[in-house]
Amino acid sequence: MSRGLIKYHVPLSTHAESGVHVQQAIAVLDSGVGGLTVVREVMRQLPREKILYFGDTARAPYGPRPAEEIVRFTREIVDYLIQYKPKMVVIACNTATAIALEDIRSRVGIPVIGVINPGARAAIGRTKTGVVGVIGTEGTINSGAYEQALRQLSPLVRVVTKACPNFVPLVEDGHYRSQDARDTVANDLLPLRGFPMDCLILGCTHYPFLADTISEVMGPKVTLISSAYETAREISTILHEKNMLARNEEVPVHQFFCSGDPKKFQVIAQDWLGEQIRLTPVVWQVRRVGA
Ligand code: DGL
Repeated sequence: MSRGLIKYHVPLSTHAESGVHVQQAIAVLDSGVGGLTVVREVMRQLPREKILYFGDTARAPYGPRPAEEIVRFTREIVDYLIQYKPKMVVIACNTATAIALEDIRSRVGIPVIGVINPGARAAIGRTKTGVVGVIGTEGTINSGAYEQALRQLSPLVRVVTKACPNFVPLVEDGHYRSQDARDTVANDLLPLRGFPMDCLILGCTHYPFLADTISEVMGPKVTLISSAYETAREISTILHEKNMLARNEEVPVHQFFCSGDPKKFQVIAQDWLGEQIRLTPVVWQVRRVGA
């Protein structure tokens, strides 16, 4: 079996009766493979932490869906993951963060982190021109969540936004290194090139898959801000403050669920996380949630 694809069947909860301690995980969710960009950073910054990931690949993309549906899907996934008694939930999807973060926070009794505030903080900390670009799904851009987060931090910041609905399907199909991807990115980002922005927030967790191409198109003066790094830092800070960091000596066993084609998901996860999961046992499973 190839590296990282080892199948283990592990006990899923703490077994008080057997005295075996099963590590409490960080639950991470996304509409598909995009949240893996956050997972890679979490694995890098917090290698002792166990990850429980759900990619709703059967129902991606979320971007064009109505808000009510995004709230329902996010609730279904969180309800499913909560059965594993995670210590924290990370909504590694900007669309679900923009639309469902407060709803989920009000429903669960553990810390829930989204990806919008960390990215906004990083951009404000880095911009010198005071002009920040944001690209994301229609759901995220139309919600105005980034403008709100950025202006809360810096009232004078100028925010230029653009929805890029063509990007997520390219990533979900595994075509993020194709010529088609390069052409699509070049074409869709053209309207942003006239603005004096020095930071561009990748306001969709799928977009770091296209970061090299986006960077080429935007040029060297524009710093790309990926919420993945900042979100992992926030997770680390919160776990540290709450004295909830993992202390286990053994390598954690990560679990990945997707609701769609498991092969497709696994190939992308393997490609993206290759380095991080090389020596780590991983469980891959297919689960559908909701109707
Ligand atoms: N990766 C997600 C985001 O950050 C969702 C993309 C989609 O499913 O449209 O918004």
